[in-house]
Amino acid sequence: MTVSDLFGRPLGNLRLSVTDRCNLRCSYCMPEQEYRWLPQPDMLSFEEISNLVDAFVELGVTRVRLTGGEPLLRRDLARLVELLSAKPALRDIAITTNGVLLAEQAAGLARAGLRRFTISLDTLRPRVFRELTGRDDHARVMAGIDAAVATGLPDLKLDCVVMRGTNEGELVDLVAFARERRAEIRFIEYMDVGGATRWSMERVVPRPEMLERIEHALGPAEALPSDDRAPAERWRLADGTSFGIIASTTAPFCASCDRARLTADGQWLTCLYASRGIDLRGPLRAGATRAELVEVLRARWSVRDDRGAELRLAEVARTALAAPAELHADPHLEMHTRGG
Ligand code: GTP
Ligand code: 5AD
Ligand code: SF4
Repeated sequence: MTVSDLFGRPLGNLRLSVTDRCNLRCSYCMPEQEYRWLPQPDMLSFEEISNLVDAFVELGVTRVRLTGGEPLLRRDLARLVELLSAKPALRDIAITTNGVLLAEQAAGLARAGLRRFTISLDTLRPRVFRELTGRDDHARVMAGIDAAVATGLPDLKLDCVVMRGTNEGELVDLVAFARERRAEIRFIEYMDVGGATRWSMERVVPRPEMLERIEHALGPAEALPSDDRAPAERWRLADGTSFGIIASTTAPFCASCDRARLTADGQWLTCLYASRGIDLRGPLRAGATRAELVEVLRARWSVRDDRGAELRLAEVARTALAAPAELHADPHLEMHTRGG
């Protein structure tokens, strides 16, 4: 059975946040001093996650991505990967990680059946890394990237959030860094998601400017045909190097969005910008059958009309999405809870 929403978009891609905790404090995501964490008893076990994934699979999900917070903080994550990789319907199991703990875990995750890594890499300069993340872990991230390369898994991606005044001068160096590791770098516009309390339009570097900076240094880039559902648009330089740009702030891809998110405590969100989700932990722990869970998902997805980023774009005076007090009152609004 498959399901389409009100705009004809299928449900294909599920982002599983396995913890809301993070070991970095990136200024675009967690700039505040204090955070309220989800209560431990509310966290789904791996078996519970696996059961919910089975329900999603029945409705057409074929791709899952593990996110956080920082997913590698979740103890024994490879065991979840094993549970997921035993499901033949899942043709893609990926992870989005900040890389700090990856040197220790990359090989084990690959053995457990993970298909590909996406690692956040915003800067090549340790000093900028410390300013941006509040931690001195740049060398560990570099070691994490090396470990991911060493697994030999294909399609390694590096994600870079570009912020004016921080790293917009590093684009060309990052393209070269990725090329040397046969990874694809993707530059992401700074987004006004929940948690980005310091966001302002002035700090967004729009896609045309990113492209111009790269082409100015490296020559003309040819646009590549893009996968319909992927957020990145891709280009290729004369020497064959490709890179991506995710322009979610100035050119949203809502029209083709087939993704849903599950928080670590079992809230199901049908849009990154949704103000509330649907509780799946309740029915699951009350003993709902697979068929009953599938029906909850089907009923909700079939009336989905989210296009959060497009609505943000239409706003005249665009400022941060949520104030710190609102985020504190409901941590589910945070990007680090919803899965970056
Ligand atoms: P693949 O294309 O399968 O590799 O995955 P992906 O690009 O979805 O994964 P990734 O976690 O690397 O996401 C890259 C960036 O796209 C995120 O960091 C966000 O900035 C942005 N993004 C991810 N999901 C969404 C979403 O649901 N809506 C919007 N508007 N932006 C998103
Ligand atoms: N803008 C863009 N991307 C963001 N992420 C988190 N916050 C933001 C934001 N404000 C994404 C980044 C990071 C991942 C974990 O989440 O891509 O690498
Ligand atoms: Fe999908 Fe919502 Fe992101 Fe648009 S804003 S791409 S609908 S999650």
